[in-house]
Amino acid sequence: MEEIIAFCKTRGFVYPSSEIYGGLAGIYDYGHYGILLKNNIQKEWLKSMVQKRSDVYALDSAIFMHPTTWKASGHVDGFNDPQVDCRTCKSRMRADHLLEEFDIDADKATLEFINKELDRLKAEGKVKCVVCGSKDLTPARQFSLMVKTNMGSPTDMLSEENVVYLRPETCGGIYLEYKNTVNSLHPKLPFGIAQVGKAFRNEIVARQFIFRTREFEQMEMQYFLHPSEMESIYEQWHEYRWKWYLDLGIKEEELKWVQHTKLVFYASKAFDIKYHFKAMDKFDEVEGLHARGNYDLTQHSKFSGENLEFYDQQRNEKYIPHIMETSVGLNRLVFMFLDNAYTKEEVNGETRIVLKLDKRLSPIKVAILPLMKKDGLAEKAEEIYQAFREYTMSEFDAAGSIGKRYRRQDEIGTPYCVTVDYQSMQDGTVTVRDRDTMLQERVSIDRLKSYIIEKVGIIN
Ligand code: GAP
Repeated sequence: MEEIIAFCKTRGFVYPSSEIYGGLAGIYDYGHYGILLKNNIQKEWLKSMVQKRSDVYALDSAIFMHPTTWKASGHVDGFNDPQVDCRTCKSRMRADHLLEEFDIDADKATLEFINKELDRLKAEGKVKCVVCGSKDLTPARQFSLMVKTNMGSPTDMLSEENVVYLRPETCGGIYLEYKNTVNSLHPKLPFGIAQVGKAFRNEIVARQFIFRTREFEQMEMQYFLHPSEMESIYEQWHEYRWKWYLDLGIKEEELKWVQHTKLVFYASKAFDIKYHFKAMDKFDEVEGLHARGNYDLTQHSKFSGENLEFYDQQRNEKYIPHIMETSVGLNRLVFMFLDNAYTKEEVNGETRIVLKLDKRLSPIKVAILPLMKKDGLAEKAEEIYQAFREYTMSEFDAAGSIGKRYRRQDEIGTPYCVTVDYQSMQDGTVTVRDRDTMLQERVSIDRLKSYIIEKVGIIN
């Protein structure tokens, strides 16, 4: 974990937020390569979820929503995690995570169950603070994950009426725009709405780098359907989402499906996709697929007074659609793809660090390097670079030995390095070096663009 965190910071992927003020726990910033990688992951998700499907629409709803939204969804009263404090070092821990260490599944368990199990383990002297090892821990209590703020004129700021919440999940906005989507785009059931956006949770523990943060991004898709189709549609999405990971280079053995044993009362099925994080030496959740019944729209209909029924012409039936959800954390995917790609290899007695990212995800697609900074080589390379940057993320680098420059590009996952050498000046060819094989091929400058496009796919 320390190695990945240090790598992300020194190579411009992820920085701790507000570092010059000592940082802010559970918040991170994305540097140049980090944001390019994050955008590429988002692009691949949108391509698979919206561009390649005619049954899913895109949405970008606001972070702030009417506060009743979160009353109706149950978040204001029930979006809690069980928290335990260490009386010695004052650290905070998730009680369900403490129990997990003893193979006790306390996810969504009652406080009563959690405290009974904790008391039993405490009596056996087994449970202790994960930070200092002290056994002096408080009982578990519920802690709200909702992040609140105020909106309105300054004189009203302290009024409870002005409280608004920073959304804890993006799907809330999808439920609220279900009606406008139906009325403006006239979809047939089943159909989906997908969106990417920020979510905020006052996480008790935020110690796992960008795996669990207090500000993060979700990519969620809500698929509205007739209840009789839930089983078969769930299976289709199950397969569709699994393939997305394999297609982007995650090996099947690094992934697994884990079914939820405890379900909220309105859900009929829930599975998580877990990835084996090398940095944490364990499988952990990246995405959830949830069969949510018609609870969400029913609640919003009840609280808003709006009729959210759908008239299904084919069935000649009016009903509140049921929902199948896919929900994935974009930041967690950045972590997953970095963890998966980060490779150390021995090359001629030296260690090479290389990010073996799928080319579609690489922040920089091509680096243009003059072998020397003299005899017109740099000018020629600059010319090629200016042409390339018109249609893809490219870099020009003339500083240091060519070997060092290759290594630098390997570390940020650039799939191709183009080198302009003396032969280029004579016959109009350049070398193209492949990041993974390190093999070089001579390609004519005239053919370079189509050559790279062929290798990387459509690249802008
Ligand atoms: N709408 C359903 C929902 O939000 P969730 O399991 O709470 O379900 C879905 O969250 C995904 O969002 C998770 O699988 C994870 O990838 C991501 N996620 C949740 N909390 C997160 C956090 N604090 N930091 C980063 N990602 C988070």
